[in-house]
Amino acid sequence: MTITDAMPSITETEPWSRLAQHRDRLAATTLAELFAAEPDRGAQMSWELDGLWLDLSRQRMTADTLDLLIALAGARDIENSRQAMFGGERINATEGRAVLHAALRDDDALTPAAEAARARDQRRAMLVFAEMVRDGTASGVNGERFGDVVNIGIGGSHLGPMAATEALQDDDGSPRIHYVANVDETDLTATLSRLDPARTLFLIASKTFTTAETMANAQSARAWLVAALGADAVSAHFAALSTNSEAAARFGIAPERVFGFDEWVGGRFSLWSSVGLSTAIAIGGGGFEQLLAGAHAMDRHFATAPLAENIPVILALADFWNRNFQNLPARAVLPYDERLRGLPALLQQLEMESNGKRVTLSGDAIDGVPASVVFGMTGTNGQHTFHQMLHQGPALVAAEFIGVAEPAAVDAARFGDSDLGHHHDMLLANMLAQAEALALGTKDAPTPHHHCPGDRPSTMILLQRLDPNRLGMLLALYEHKVFVEGAILGINSFDQFGVELGKTLAGPLTEALGGGAAQPNAVSAAALAKLRAWRR
Ligand code: F6P
Repeated sequence: MTITDAMPSITETEPWSRLAQHRDRLAATTLAELFAAEPDRGAQMSWELDGLWLDLSRQRMTADTLDLLIALAGARDIENSRQAMFGGERINATEGRAVLHAALRDDDALTPAAEAARARDQRRAMLVFAEMVRDGTASGVNGERFGDVVNIGIGGSHLGPMAATEALQDDDGSPRIHYVANVDETDLTATLSRLDPARTLFLIASKTFTTAETMANAQSARAWLVAALGADAVSAHFAALSTNSEAAARFGIAPERVFGFDEWVGGRFSLWSSVGLSTAIAIGGGGFEQLLAGAHAMDRHFATAPLAENIPVILALADFWNRNFQNLPARAVLPYDERLRGLPALLQQLEMESNGKRVTLSGDAIDGVPASVVFGMTGTNGQHTFHQMLHQGPALVAAEFIGVAEPAAVDAARFGDSDLGHHHDMLLANMLAQAEALALGTKDAPTPHHHCPGDRPSTMILLQRLDPNRLGMLLALYEHKVFVEGAILGINSFDQFGVELGKTLAGPLTEALGGGAAQPNAVSAAALAKLRAWRR
């Protein structure tokens, strides 16, 4: 059987029917009853790897549920799919590519040696440059040290590096990192208005170096720099992070400032490649290597642990259960740590661009629900925004709490010798309280308005501390979770043809907006006429 052969319908397999029967039997049992019946659920339904702890005890699941889900994953040949990915097979069949982001962080032969060696060479060059920017060896055209770095890129060339930089950068005097993604000129102009061209380095992050938004922003950034410093300044102030060195050269980027990677690195999996340069400048080469080491530890765990002890597999199956057997179409990602504020957006792309699909690799309709609608916000902000609906709304939403045990370091002297520890206590207490409230609800509500029904499932992921290593583990955990969810249903999690149609339509509409001859479709005609009238 090849990867593109039709898989048997999952809903007609024996493990699926057994899960459906099990779900029906469990339906009348509340989470409160599960807790009462199994006082050690917290220990029984949790897993740990090197300072990362996954707790499913607040899910509507028992040990039997997990056994049945593992049987389903086994029946869908997850282990072979996993081996095919790490082995470098072209599992992204629609694009004819291997999927080897694990090779970017592999130092012990988990992935094909040639690819891992190539990735190491590319990384070495990129990290040398990161250190040169940090120590001032690489400077602006007038010899001034770079104080600001602007990463211009979108999607995977934006969300991963931004989330990692926000999570890990200390106030250590290293350059400030800015991210410009939106083609809305305000994104660029608002960022540049605060910067000095002579001290600004631009990183054009684009796997393809053709993405329209990124190219428009790159050209305008170039115009801003040239207006201030002249055309000769471009080679000192621009670098490219791309697989397309020819296009980067045509843009005017010096060959030694083009940091490459390979086509088997998907955009939303590219943080670990040269696309991570902004993060490497923020945290240094050593920190970046630690980020990769953490991701690699998760890779090794995912590649070798039995399914029943495999944290990415278990996390994927819990989500699969909620979507396919509990009818929960959405999941709120709730990091109770401000440093992880980029995580919800990153997961929106990772999960919905990967598995927001309608057909399997064989082109048949997907049998089952492949992805959740993912949304989220940091705690406690989300509590004052949308948690009302999580607690009392008619539609159930799965919740995922992410907390960090150790608080961020604080310069206590600047706060009258307070270490601000009470903030962190309040933060974590709120996270625990939200999970408890969702699970148990109110006991004696004075009115129906006050009543919270409870019985709403959630997952909790705890990190011992937020350092590069743990962040690498966390992000790799989610990458492999997404892979498992796709593999169970036989879909290609690594293409994204759905985003192409809108891009194609935007071309003629841009022309029409500018007064060109292109005739808009009737769907857009009225709005276009109104926009043109109001723009005059
Ligand atoms: O939105 C589609 C997409 O192709 C993403 O998958 C990708 O991360 C993003 O565009 C940016 O692509 P590139 O890095 O090639 O500019």
